[in-house]
Amino acid sequence: MIAASGTFGYGIEFEEIVSLDRIGGFVTKGLSREPMAGNPTPRIIETAAGMMNAIGLQNMGVLAFIAEKLPRLRQIKGLVIIANVFGFTIEACVEVIQLLNDAPDIAMYELNASCPNTSHGGMVFGTDPPQLWELVARCKAAARRPLMVKLSPNVTDIGLMARVAADGGADAVSLVNTFVSLAIDVETRRPRIANITGGLSGPAIKPIAVRMVHEVSKNVTIPIVGMGGVVQAEDAVEFMMAGATAVQVGTASYADPRAVENIANGLKRWCIAHEVLQARLAHRFGSALTICSGLCWLRIVE
Ligand SMILES: Cc1cc2nc3c(=O)[nH]c(=O)nc-3n(C[C@H](O)[C@H](O)[C@H](O)COP(=O)(O)O)c2cc1C
Repeated sequence: MIAASGTFGYGIEFEEIVSLDRIGGFVTKGLSREPMAGNPTPRIIETAAGMMNAIGLQNMGVLAFIAEKLPRLRQIKGLVIIANVFGFTIEACVEVIQLLNDAPDIAMYELNASCPNTSHGGMVFGTDPPQLWELVARCKAAARRPLMVKLSPNVTDIGLMARVAADGGADAVSLVNTFVSLAIDVETRRPRIANITGGLSGPAIKPIAVRMVHEVSKNVTIPIVGMGGVVQAEDAVEFMMAGATAVQVGTASYADPRAVENIANGLKRWCIAHEVLQARLAHRFGSALTICSGLCWLRIVE
């Protein structure tokens, strides 16, 4: 199990609460070239089965992350660090990757394709196939580590977008990011979030996310990392049965900061109870294999 970007800070905040070496890893808050202050408040609200946020990609900037957070993270034995990268132009994304290339002990990059491209009238990279292809190809050429592309779910054909990312050179895809949504306070007649719209996450989106992972699995052969509303081990199993190789946990960490570790432990128990390891993994990879990152060989039969 991997802690999802934006819901696990820079990892260090969870050091006292979670055994960081016992989870599959964590994805940093999205890192941009310059620090960003984010959107005005209110920017987080609870919804019937999840939450909406419009944090606005607030972050300390890639250089501050490398100087102030990474040295401490590197001391945590066994911790897998995935750096989430974004920018409002392709050049900005490439620059963040180049700066991270020289930083030690980062396992891979997750490129957030849900950002608007300000050089192209603000259209979100991940909703336009040619722009997505160019973003991925240029970032892949710059990256000296594996590049996972995090897809926007706010599209008609997620399978097509995954194929475009794979064609551009992505080593893996992750999905889903949040769904664009709106909540209105009927007394004040104002949007409940200052930004007007926000991204919906949590259990409300899980069935849509599972469907999207399944569609993507029919379109690409690269690994898929699934997420969206995972709160218990069975949710992670569901994503794997739909085609995910590994699973991330986001919003659940707000309700229970130990959620990622608890779900990882639950997944081990589920695999043992269902003889998944003996029947499948041991056969495929040899008995030395340990369960990490929630890696299971589970697929639905259609
Ligand atoms: C408060 C908050 C901040 C987020 N920030 C980022 C971010 O900086 N970069 C990113 O790629 N995804 C970000 N996400 C999206 C999550 O990583 C995840 O894709 C999404 O929330 C769906 O998973 P979940 O339902 O388990 O939360 C954020 C989500 C939340 C709730």
